[in-house]
Amino acid sequence: MSVVSVESKSRDRWISGYRRQKRDLYETPSWVTELLLPQIPRDIRTIWECACGSGQMASVLRAAGFDVVGTDIAMGHDFLDETQRCRFRAVDGVVTNPPYGRRHTLAVAFVENCMAAMRRDEIRLTAMLLPAEFDYSHTKQHLFSECPFFARKLVITRRIVWFQSDDPDKREAPKNNHAWFIWERHHEGRPQIFYCHPRREYAATNDVRIWWDGKV
Ligand SMILES: C[S@@+](CC[C@H](N)C(=O)[O-])C[C@H]1O[C@@H](n2cnc3c(N)ncnc32)[C@H](O)[C@@H]1O
Repeated sequence: MSVVSVESKSRDRWISGYRRQKRDLYETPSWVTELLLPQIPRDIRTIWECACGSGQMASVLRAAGFDVVGTDIAMGHDFLDETQRCRFRAVDGVVTNPPYGRRHTLAVAFVENCMAAMRRDEIRLTAMLLPAEFDYSHTKQHLFSECPFFARKLVITRRIVWFQSDDPDKREAPKNNHAWFIWERHHEGRPQIFYCHPRREYAATNDVRIWWDGKV
């Protein structure tokens, strides 16, 4: 896949200290996808990475043993297009880092599309890497407090560096926090919150569970 150029003169040209990329092509570092792996239920075998970019997230999932279908609008597959709907029936779940769009409109549309597929009983899992505050707003509560499928939030306590600076003397200082949001078709009870970091272990307290043992 070709390298996507930087948009110019856009109002939100800068996002969290990085230049905004055309179609939101921010490739997810491997360690971020690896944090999700223990949270994927054992009965999930086939995954649709529906905004796969150059395939970084898909390759981590494949290396973990999943059958992965990767599509992207850059390949002519618009996830929000009706014609793509048939793909849901061929997979167990959807995992991606979606484009956010202005005021998160695209990310909301991506999650809504998956929730509709869950209601049709076509997929059992949706996992999306999103800004940590994505669940805060009143207008998104149909995806969280009012959504029976919302199962877990995996708070990532290390900030993601999306691009390495060309300047070796400049230390990257990303400003945004991210989390994995997980919805399951057969989830029962309240959603849970977990905290995770690629290098640290946290003691489990109260209802907070640790990520690395894969148990909930
Ligand atoms: C944030 S990047 C994520 C890339 C990849 N998932 C990863 O984590 O490395 C978002 C991707 O969404 C794609 N995209 C944007 N709008 C889309 C749409 N409507 N349908 C499918 N892909 C879309 C972009 O081309 C871009 O590759």
